[in-house]
Amino acid sequence: MADYRLETSWRPVENSFGRLTFTLFNLSTEPLSGFSLAYTTETRVADNHVCDGGSLKRQVAHFHEFLPPEGLSVRPGGHWRFTVEGLTREPKHVSAGVKSAYLTLAEGRHVPVEFSDLHLEGRDGGAAAPLLPVGSVPDPYSLLPWPLLLGLKAGELPVILYPAEKTRPDAIKSLSLVLALYQRLYPAANAPFSLSAIKGGRAIRFATESSIAGSAYELRFTAHEIVLSSADEAGRQYGLISLAQLMHGARADRERFKFPNFGTIADQPRYDWRGCHLDVARQFYPVADVNRLIDILAWNKLNIFHWHLTDDEAWRLEIKAYPALTEIGARRGPDEVLVPQLGDGAETRAGHYTQDDVRQIVAHAASLHIEVVPEIDIPGHGTATLLSLPELVDGQEAPASYRAVQGYPNNALNPAVEFTYEFLGKVFDEVVALFPSEYLHIGGDEVAQRAWLTSPLCSALMEREKLAGTPELQAYFLRRIKTMLSERGRKLAGWNEVSHGGGVDRDGTLLMAWEQPAVGIELAQQGYNVVITPGQAYYLDMAQSEAWAEPGAAWAGYSSPEHTYAYEAEDDLPEALQEKMRGIQACIWTENFVSRGYFNRLVFPRLSAVAEAAWTPLTRKDWDRFAAIVRMWPIL
Ligand code: ACM
Repeated sequence: MADYRLETSWRPVENSFGRLTFTLFNLSTEPLSGFSLAYTTETRVADNHVCDGGSLKRQVAHFHEFLPPEGLSVRPGGHWRFTVEGLTREPKHVSAGVKSAYLTLAEGRHVPVEFSDLHLEGRDGGAAAPLLPVGSVPDPYSLLPWPLLLGLKAGELPVILYPAEKTRPDAIKSLSLVLALYQRLYPAANAPFSLSAIKGGRAIRFATESSIAGSAYELRFTAHEIVLSSADEAGRQYGLISLAQLMHGARADRERFKFPNFGTIADQPRYDWRGCHLDVARQFYPVADVNRLIDILAWNKLNIFHWHLTDDEAWRLEIKAYPALTEIGARRGPDEVLVPQLGDGAETRAGHYTQDDVRQIVAHAASLHIEVVPEIDIPGHGTATLLSLPELVDGQEAPASYRAVQGYPNNALNPAVEFTYEFLGKVFDEVVALFPSEYLHIGGDEVAQRAWLTSPLCSALMEREKLAGTPELQAYFLRRIKTMLSERGRKLAGWNEVSHGGGVDRDGTLLMAWEQPAVGIELAQQGYNVVITPGQAYYLDMAQSEAWAEPGAAWAGYSSPEHTYAYEAEDDLPEALQEKMRGIQACIWTENFVSRGYFNRLVFPRLSAVAEAAWTPLTRKDWDRFAAIVRMWPIL
């Protein structure tokens, strides 16, 4: 137990974003004086604020440090209270308060402070409603995503499935791989497959059928065998996952789910790009967690893992040419170059992926037909980069001359500093060697409106290249980046803002529409290939209902699992532009993800909802069926 606890509440105030009240309890046996209180939160204090009972000493984005009044001493069992009015946004949910807290004592020691929810004053917060109905299954088969075509008759549940006699070694390997996947996901369940024939089981006969589309498969069931046909290894793997899913449901809930002994499944994915993104900058996820998420993606038949490796809060990828990126840029703490952010307390937290880690993760994903698309987020979201390598900064630029939406000052790599390109060239060389993906994602999002305008080097560049303002500077930068990627044989993926200021060559560029659903249409009209990932439906960090009691972020609204499930990215996309749409993606932004429980509560079952939308045609979607099946699906 910590010696201190912080309670935080919020009260609405007309014409403002309300007032926060902080109460720090001294549970120790000593009086507390000469200290400061630091906490992290997404509900940031604005420059223009009024603090009663204390004062703001320092703020860096989500990090805040407050001082008590001169000479204050909090007796054992006593408390210190202060209020703040003047916030950058209105808190909407219980999770919008403190994410970590600590005290710095008079002698410089940092000690932990416990905390909990942001309490709502003076108004009923509403109850968090159930988000998933019991559901129902008109066809008693546990398959998710639901297949394109299915005509089955239920029969006896086989005790196990095994490869037919004379099955080729590559198919046996496939079966073993899916069996291992199942065992990792459901370690307490019985194996659905055996490599050897077992009496009472059913044989799977594998067929290669070149007329079947890539990644597609067919299953034909009879009472004595199952024929799995596909043209390629991916299709075969998806067919085997379907069989494991059928076995799992039929065993887990014999009332609801059956195994077929007659009929066919003919299945293929709706989109080529069935993605899931994970932000490992705000929170670090060790290799085992990343591998488990990849397993979960495979089980849901997703095929792209978009790995958000860098952001203001951290740089997580080992780069041999620049060890400072992880030595400095992957550590946050009270006495580190990077101050504590979302979830960091009195102790330094550090974490990055070595290049060996990356090779292992990429190979693991590839074995499950998942491509890992790395993201190096540039030119914005660069605080960790710039603090690790100060040579990247134009020393003549006015300090804090612009600020990103998350509050970081001067956080964009400078397009007029020539070292920027030398640095990124070396980074790309190493990234290309690690990741065999078709695309490298270079971010491009959320560069602050007036970025670089006080940099004399940028002024000179703007004059020389006849560039007007931040968006054109950004486009100049991104065009050079695009060339650098092309020289390395890679295509460019980025967020929708890559199109700003004239954008980049459409050829070999894929943009992710996140800000609004309509943005995807505009990008397609401009000639870009697009992946649709609107914050309003596919950002899995958003709260799942409007209720205060339901945790989550709120800046893009809220999205219930049913809304995420029902959302149709193609709805407003004109027919002529549909060929530009490569697919859809879920994004897991982790600012708020301070615990495993929180991760699971927000990510599931919405991740599977996106997976089904990515695989199953609209006419085959069925929320009730989805709800009945998804409750058996694995979580992190
Ligand atoms: C983003 O959400 N900044 C892409």
